[in-house]
Amino acid sequence: MHTVKAIYPGTFDPLTNGHLDLIARGAKIVDELVVAILRNSEKGTPLFTVPEREEMITEAVAGFANVTVMTFDGLLVDFARRQGAKAVLRGIRAISDYEYEFQMAMMNRKLDPELETLFMMPAEKYTYVSSRLIKGVFQLGGDVTALVPSLVVERLKAKVPARVGG
Ligand code: PNS
Repeated sequence: MHTVKAIYPGTFDPLTNGHLDLIARGAKIVDELVVAILRNSEKGTPLFTVPEREEMITEAVAGFANVTVMTFDGLLVDFARRQGAKAVLRGIRAISDYEYEFQMAMMNRKLDPELETLFMMPAEKYTYVSSRLIKGVFQLGGDVTALVPSLVVERLKAKVPARVGG
């Protein structure tokens, strides 16, 4: 039988409802979806450790029978090959995402012409949501409850000291 396995890679610091929306969409069209957290991110110091992120995502995707969570470092194409995945799933929120995503997809294609990148768009209500904005807004005392899973809100509260007003 012909089954399609895809990797949904990212930093996920932290997981947002936009990510979850994409996972739900991806899980409907591929047989197996692996959410893969990059361990050696170049994005500076993360707020959550890799095990913390892995735990949060595992809890958040528990309801999807065909979604698993893993971590990786090195090249995404090498991880995908080791996993026997045929595709990489990425979300595009706005035109501003396109250039970066296009470059990555083309580089990954150069590195492994057999690996396809699938782009999906999250629900409109999440088009402006990013992990970076969530962290920034939460750290300044803003309400992010509609934008991340409640288990992430709890983790944010535990991680980020309450902001004293002023
Ligand atoms: O959530 P992000 O930070 O946008 O995800 C970026 C990610 C993890 C998909 C990307 O940085 C990646 O695949 N890194 C692994 C290293 C790699 O394969 N680099 C070459 C791809 S152009």
